[in-house]
Amino acid sequence: MDLEQIRRVGVAGAGTMGTGIAQLFAEAGFHVTWYNRSAAGLERGLAGVRRNQGILMESGALTAEEARESRARLNPTLELSDLASADFVAETIVEDLDAKSGFFRSLDGICRPGVILTTNTSWLSISRLANAVSRPERFAGLHFLNPAHLVPLVEVIPGEATSDRTVEMVMEMARRIGRRPIVVRKEVPGYVTVRLQAALVREAVHLVEEGVATSAEIDVAVKDGLGMRWALLGPLEIADLGGLDVFNIVTRNLNPHLSAARGGLRLLETLVASGRLGVKSGAGFYEYAGDESAKVLDDRDRRLLKLLRVKSE
Ligand SMILES: NC(=O)c1ccc[n+]([C@@H]2O[C@H](COP(=O)([O-])OP(=O)(O)OC[C@H]3O[C@@H](n4cnc5c(N)ncnc54)[C@H](O)[C@@H]3O)[C@@H](O)[C@H]2O)c1
Repeated sequence: MDLEQIRRVGVAGAGTMGTGIAQLFAEAGFHVTWYNRSAAGLERGLAGVRRNQGILMESGALTAEEARESRARLNPTLELSDLASADFVAETIVEDLDAKSGFFRSLDGICRPGVILTTNTSWLSISRLANAVSRPERFAGLHFLNPAHLVPLVEVIPGEATSDRTVEMVMEMARRIGRRPIVVRKEVPGYVTVRLQAALVREAVHLVEEGVATSAEIDVAVKDGLGMRWALLGPLEIADLGGLDVFNIVTRNLNPHLSAARGGLRLLETLVASGRLGVKSGAGFYEYAGDESAKVLDDRDRRLLKLLRVKSE
């Protein structure tokens, strides 16, 4: 199948990620069959799209008509068989190898031979997931960052059997929905973005555990320090600007002092065990009482939109 022939997109999963991903495809003009296993999940997903689009409209990034028309292209369903007509599928259900493999195995039995199948898994092996389908050459990772409708980057991850043509087509589909794709050239757990983030979170939690800084101080150090540059310059560009001789001495001497935790992080394990899961449970490193959770998410999206505008100038 040629790229121009791709009209119908299937999105599986209507949670945090599926909502933004279904929205992106619909706003780009695709007819989206949006599959989820529960009706309540789909209701929440549709409410999420309305909420996301409200903020986009408020900032002038989307008109009311565009929002209405794109929502009309979203076709929610509880029937997996409705994905049979899809030319391209973005799977974003629960992060569980058995659940995802089961989903792809069922889909494989009903979908068109030319369909391209992608998964938004954060760390599962693409090659292992591809074992569930009969045409692994048409299977790849397409990994979005949260919030999917606002963060431009996506990672395209080929498995062992993925064809070059599939990689090209997935890259092009990503561009069509306004994303900035990079290819992950070797299949490693966590790809590029999840690994970089995990390395920073490991050290951040370590510094809090060791009493070097509070959570709030760590976040300020990133927001008003390191992160100020990261929206515009990558860490390796920053190293070039600072001087590689300096970075060489600093990393060589500092590396032995950095966290080398191999398993779960003590503080994170404790927070999770006590039900502090972050915004979704009303508390995490910080407290989110009452309507604070919704406010934090709205603030995040409004600020990201402003940053996108600055970056596009
Ligand atoms: N949350 C993030 O920041 C983030 C970022 C990048 C990638 N991901 C990945 O995206 C995927 C989804 O994550 P999420 O945060 O949106 O999860 P979520 O729990 O918010 O949503 C999962 C959705 O899938 C549905 N679902 C679960 N099992 C299903 C099944 N067998 N068939 C159909 N629907 C099913 C659930 O009802 C729910 O609507 C995961 O693979 C995750 O690792 C998440």
